[in-house]
Amino acid sequence: MEEKDISVKRLISNLFDKVSEDFDASGPRYFAYFGERLVKFAGINEDQRILDIASGKGASLLPAVQKVGQNGDVIGIDISKGMVCKTNLEIRRRDIQNARVMVMDAEKLEFADERFDHVLCGFGIFFFPNYKAALKEFKRVLKSDGRFSFTTFLNKRDERFRWYGELVDKYLVGAEGKIQDYDGPAFDTEETLYEILNEAGFKNIKVISEEKTFEYKNEREWWDKLWTHGGIRVLEAIPKERLEDFRTEVFAKLKKMKKSEGITAAMSVLYASGEK
Ligand SMILES: C[S@@+](CC[C@H](N)C(=O)[O-])C[C@H]1O[C@@H](n2cnc3c(N)ncnc32)[C@H](O)[C@@H]1O
Repeated sequence: MEEKDISVKRLISNLFDKVSEDFDASGPRYFAYFGERLVKFAGINEDQRILDIASGKGASLLPAVQKVGQNGDVIGIDISKGMVCKTNLEIRRRDIQNARVMVMDAEKLEFADERFDHVLCGFGIFFFPNYKAALKEFKRVLKSDGRFSFTTFLNKRDERFRWYGELVDKYLVGAEGKIQDYDGPAFDTEETLYEILNEAGFKNIKVISEEKTFEYKNEREWWDKLWTHGGIRVLEAIPKERLEDFRTEVFAKLKKMKKSEGITAAMSVLYASGEK
């Protein structure tokens, strides 16, 4: 593995270790929502064996357990020890007997060939420096008619929040080098996902999009949520002495958008799947 890939992975696992406690735990639980939808989209049936890649806090793993029933089996893998520990605790808390999560790299799976009926991956593929190696691994561990299904973010932002990107750019002036650049594809159009699956040799490819609206109670809830996922990478690059000003400006913008029901934000995502 290249030196650069090792350092990217270390950075990512540290980042998700840090947010593992709060990840999707408060405010609108959109990862849980999209995870449940991914499981439905994948078409998982009873008694099947499922591998959930980059399982995080179990957004798709936990609904997959429900789908496969007691005679099925669900394994999650994640590069972040923090995520793995928290999700295994949740599995134990719910007294689930047929699921477990392991620390593993998506690009180097420690499973035998043709072991799984489905491989899932919710919002993970864009973190893999060598995503082609990962796709090869997913194919290898899938049974001959197995299916790989995953989600990414669509390149359609909620225009009402355009100001956020502009504010971040303003506060990052002079600190750009602090964010490690990702040089892979954006995984954010239907065409790209189709091409990626096609190039990796998957058949019967399906790609759909969904726009979903979520409600935040107030400015505080919106702000707190920012610190619970991958977006923290950008926030941590803002010089500490400027963070309070940044926060003040964010709250002022949010206040203008707030209605009696709170702050509404739309998220657009892609679901894609292909058969081995
Ligand atoms: C945005 S979270 C998504 C978690 C979950 N699938 C969900 O939908 O809520 C991305 C996850 O990918 C994991 N991840 C990133 N790179 C990985 C890799 N190379 N192998 C395994 N997991 C990885 C992170 O640790 C993190 O838990």
